[in-house]
Amino acid sequence: MSDTPANPSASAEPLKNMPASMPDAGPDPSLEAAADRNNAVQPPSVTAGSPPAAEPQKMDALSELLISRKYITAEAMTAAMAKAKTMPKGNAIQILLAEGTLKKQDYETLRADVQSRQGQNLRIPGYEIMGFLGAGAMASVFKGRQQSLDRVVAIKVLPQKYSEDLEFVRRFAAEGKIAAKLNHPNIVQAYDEGIAGNQHFFVMEYIDGTTVHDVINQHGVYTEQEVLKIAILIADALAHAHHMGLIHRDVKPKNIMLTSRGVPKLADMGLAMLNSGPGEEEKGKIYGTPAYLAPEQAKPDVVLDSRADIYSFGATIYHMVIGHVPFPASTAVEMIQKHLNQEVESPHKANPNISTGLSDIIEVCMAKSPSARYASAEDLVADLKAVQNGGAPTIARRGFSIESIAAIDAPEGMVAPPKAAPPTIEEEAAAFFKAQAMQPKPLHRQKLFWWTVVGWGLAVLMMLVAIAK
Ligand SMILES: Nc1ncnc2c1ncn2[C@@H]1O[C@H](COP(=O)(O)OP(=O)(O)OP(=O)(O)O)[C@@H](O)[C@H]1O
Ligand SMILES: [Mg+2]
Repeated sequence: MSDTPANPSASAEPLKNMPASMPDAGPDPSLEAAADRNNAVQPPSVTAGSPPAAEPQKMDALSELLISRKYITAEAMTAAMAKAKTMPKGNAIQILLAEGTLKKQDYETLRADVQSRQGQNLRIPGYEIMGFLGAGAMASVFKGRQQSLDRVVAIKVLPQKYSEDLEFVRRFAAEGKIAAKLNHPNIVQAYDEGIAGNQHFFVMEYIDGTTVHDVINQHGVYTEQEVLKIAILIADALAHAHHMGLIHRDVKPKNIMLTSRGVPKLADMGLAMLNSGPGEEEKGKIYGTPAYLAPEQAKPDVVLDSRADIYSFGATIYHMVIGHVPFPASTAVEMIQKHLNQEVESPHKANPNISTGLSDIIEVCMAKSPSARYASAEDLVADLKAVQNGGAPTIARRGFSIESIAAIDAPEGMVAPPKAAPPTIEEEAAAFFKAQAMQPKPLHRQKLFWWTVVGWGLAVLMMLVAIAK
C-alpha cells in the first residue's frame, strides 16, 4: 500500500429502481430523486421488532431507513418528532402510524427487513445461520453452514418485497443458474439459490477476508505492482464469465473480495439485477453503480455487452491507484453525466507513480465508445501482463489508431470506414498512367484507324484480282 490517502466517493452506492431515462445534459428530476434515494441508503445498525415506544433511542436509525426507502418524507418525520417531544412518552413513529402518514404495512415490511438483516427469524432449510456478515444497499449477507456438506457458506438474503415479484424471481433464478456454471479460482463460487418462506436467498462460497474497497479505505491506494497482480486475475475471471455469456454489470472495488491469503475473487456475478429492484421490466432499466457505470449502461436502449464490464473494471483500477473514483460528484446523476460527457483525467497525471503503460490501459478501458475499448478481457490481460513485465501495452497503444479514433465518432453500431493514407508519388504516377491508358481514344483517331483498315483491305483485294487475271 502507498501512503497516499484514500478519498472514497460518497456516491459509490448501486442504483436501485432507477428510471430508464438518462438525458445527455441536465438532470432528470425523476433520476435526481432516485439518485438521492440511492445515496441515502446505509445499512442500519438497529434492532427492530420491538414496539416503537419501548426503544425510542433506536427509532432514529429506523426513521432514517424509513426516509431513505421513501416510506415517509424527511419533513413528515421531523414534524412528527417535534410533536412527540411535546407528548409524554411520545414517539414519532407511533404518531406517523396513528396519523396514517406511515402505512402500517410499510412499517412492518421495513421492520421485517431489518430483522432479516440480523438473521432473526431467518430459517433456510438445509442451512444453519451462524451470523451476520454485512449488508449492501439491497441485501443482507449471513454466514451459514450447509448441513449436507458440512461447509461454511455465505448466504445473501433479499428483502421480502423481491419475492413478490414473479418476473424478478424468475430472472434471479436464471442468472443464479448461469453463475453456478462458472468455475474460476478468482470468482466467488455460486452454490445454490432458492426461496425460504417468502425470502429469496443465494448461497455462495464464504470468503474469510475483506474487499478491495475496504483495503483502499483503510490503507490508501495500491501500488502499481499490487494493482497489476489483482487486475490480471480479475480480468481473467471476467474473460471466463464473458465466454460463458455472463456480463457482470456491477464490477467495482466492493465486489472484489480478498481471501485471508490475499487471493482476489470477483463477487456478485450474475447478481447485478439486485441493484435495480422488483416491479420493473428488464428493458430500459439501469443496473450498476454510478461511480463505475459505463456510459452505455446509462442509455436504456443500448444492449450491453462485455465491454461495459471492461469500462467498470477500468474505473475500478483507477480508484485503486488514484484513491478516489474517476468522476467524484455529489450526486449520482452528476456522476453519470460525467461518465457520459467528460474525459477521465490521465491516471499518470493524477498519480505520477503510475506508469504511462498502466495509465494508457485504464484510459483505453474507460473510452466512452465501447469500440475504442479493449475488444475482450483477454486483450486486457495481455496488456496488463506486458506492463507487469516492464513492457508496453501494445494493444492499448494500437487502440489509438486512426481507425479506432474514426470509430469513436461513428454512431454506435456503425463502424466508420478506415481513413486511407495519402498516396505516395509512385502511386500517384502509376494512377496517372493507368488513367491515361484507360482514356477512350479520340474519335478522329478511331475513324482514321478504320479507314486505314478499309484501305488496306481494298488494296489487297485489287492485288488478288490482278493476279487472278
Ligand atoms: N461471499 C461472501 N463471503 C463473505 N462475506 C461476504 C460475501 N459476500 C458478501 N459478503 C459481505 O457482505 C457485505 C455485503 O455484500 P453485498 O454484496 O450485499 O453488498 P456490497 O457489494 O458490499 O455493496 P453494494 O450493495 O453497494 O453492492 C460485504 O461488504 C461483505 O463484507
Ligand atoms: Mg457485493
